[in-house]
Amino acid sequence: MHFSDFLSLLLLLALEWNVEAIKLVCHDETFVPDAVLRVTAENHTTSCLPSKSTVLVNGTSPGPELRLVEGRTYWIRVYNDMPAANLTMHWHGLSMAVSPFADGTPSTSQWPIPPMHFFDYEVSPAVGMAGTYFYHSHVGFQAVSAAGPLIIDDCEEPPYKYDGEKIVFIGDTFTGNDSTIEAGLVHNPLVWSGEAAAILVNGQGGGTNNGTACNATLSSLDVEPGKTYRFRFIGGTALTFASLAIEGHSNLTVIEADGSYTEPYNTSFLQVAAGQRYSVLLTTKPASEQTKYFMQLESRERPTVTRGYAVLNYGTPDPPSTFYPPAQPVMTLPNTTLGFLDYDLHPHSMYGEEYPSAQDVTRTITMTVHQRVTGPTIWVENNYNWTEQFPQEPYLVSLYKNDGIEFPSMERALANNGIDPVTRSFPAQIGEVIEIVIQNTGADAGGLDAHPFHAHGAHYWDLGSGNGTYNATANNLKLTGSQPVKRDTTMLYRYAMTTGNGTRMGWRAWRLKVTEPGVWMIHCHILQHMLMGMQTVWVMGNSSEVLGKVPTPEVEGYLTYGGDVYGNETHAPNIVQFSDDWEEEQ
Ligand code: C2O
Ligand code: CU
Repeated sequence: MHFSDFLSLLLLLALEWNVEAIKLVCHDETFVPDAVLRVTAENHTTSCLPSKSTVLVNGTSPGPELRLVEGRTYWIRVYNDMPAANLTMHWHGLSMAVSPFADGTPSTSQWPIPPMHFFDYEVSPAVGMAGTYFYHSHVGFQAVSAAGPLIIDDCEEPPYKYDGEKIVFIGDTFTGNDSTIEAGLVHNPLVWSGEAAAILVNGQGGGTNNGTACNATLSSLDVEPGKTYRFRFIGGTALTFASLAIEGHSNLTVIEADGSYTEPYNTSFLQVAAGQRYSVLLTTKPASEQTKYFMQLESRERPTVTRGYAVLNYGTPDPPSTFYPPAQPVMTLPNTTLGFLDYDLHPHSMYGEEYPSAQDVTRTITMTVHQRVTGPTIWVENNYNWTEQFPQEPYLVSLYKNDGIEFPSMERALANNGIDPVTRSFPAQIGEVIEIVIQNTGADAGGLDAHPFHAHGAHYWDLGSGNGTYNATANNLKLTGSQPVKRDTTMLYRYAMTTGNGTRMGWRAWRLKVTEPGVWMIHCHILQHMLMGMQTVWVMGNSSEVLGKVPTPEVEGYLTYGGDVYGNETHAPNIVQFSDDWEEEQ
């Protein structure tokens, strides 16, 4: 065979392979999705608040629990049944590298689902991702209620044994409706949402808000004596950083953090921020002296305390009992523990993937967060904010269309603390091992705040946190001999209530091996802060790595708002099937 023949054979094989992997498919009436989420805006009563327009998933908040098995691919159909609002769904904690338009970030990875349309999300949790996640809308303030548990089951036996599972989906709720809150947060001057009116567990809850009682019914977690349960805590709050404990049960053993199995770690309480998840083993009393124990939850790092409860119920679940909050708190919960679980959690020996050493680090990017009050109150990262209004079309769409925004320039970024000022994005190359240091600073007016930072696209090794500024040498010394766990949401703490304007006070460091090409967000998970600009966009990989996966004609339907990939009553969506492991399943 001539060399040129050999080349064309190779080309043919490559093309063939591509055609195998990337398929245009029409989801007509014969198509059956693996799960269906229907999102509506309805008048709904939560806790003690008067009924108000609320975004619900399948009629409830939180929405239904979704259970997927790692190593398989699923189609989840999401209907936007709201006549006047856009919608996306984000699969919080999962890498959506396989299906790039399915990450649910409206200004970044996809056009939102227009009113009365639907979109089929292709979700492929890789083997090793088993754990606790959640799904939520990524538009505006919708995620305060449009969210639900997403559990990725192990394809084999999990490394811990337990008799049962309980989901503890922590939420919060506010007096205003979403549109009022959204408008207030971008208003000049700022109109704050107010503090959480209630902390909810699985959608229910009462307690006190700044001392005012709310006597709403509590969620009941029904257990039997002498059993071990896996409690899956999900930080599905908008704002609340919750400190929590369970009366009479100080034996909590952390076994999972953000989808990573850990070595067992014992604690008597938890701190759960917006976006974080923990699995905890809890062994119930052999014969309980009481039938009811309160779980108490309190907001931290806010000017006032919102307190909520749920019940650990040893009584018969049938018929269900109705529980109300106690007249007085049943426990004194600790104040914020700075650096909670930092340096304490280590990957479970069966899952610990070798993590890159300090010598492997190719670049350190410091992301300085700051609150500006000149003009509207906004949050900036290295002097830039990112909101749903910037840019005008989703970044990934622009890159495909090659019209508006261009690829970030590494040269411009390197000269500007890692962020390219033209595209307002942080570029990184595939194969780089980067350290991302998130640096807290005093606001223009001197205030400091605490922020749960979340990364899309991939999990990072969490290197810990501290006061002042990051010192790599000192921190590496602290990490010697142990391995940190891979997380996707960790806290940037505040070490004082106020400090000087711009004073660097408090850091959080992550180490990330850049492997997944794509356009990914890193942002604070407090919904109010997101709307005020506390979001960043990272472009991992160059143009052929980010766009090369699918040829442009095939993605045409993704490039316009309401394009061919969005279905409605009369139009079946024509979409690209990105994963190549469909054959074996269907
Ligand atoms: Cu759950 Cu972009 O976040
Ligand atoms: Cu924040």
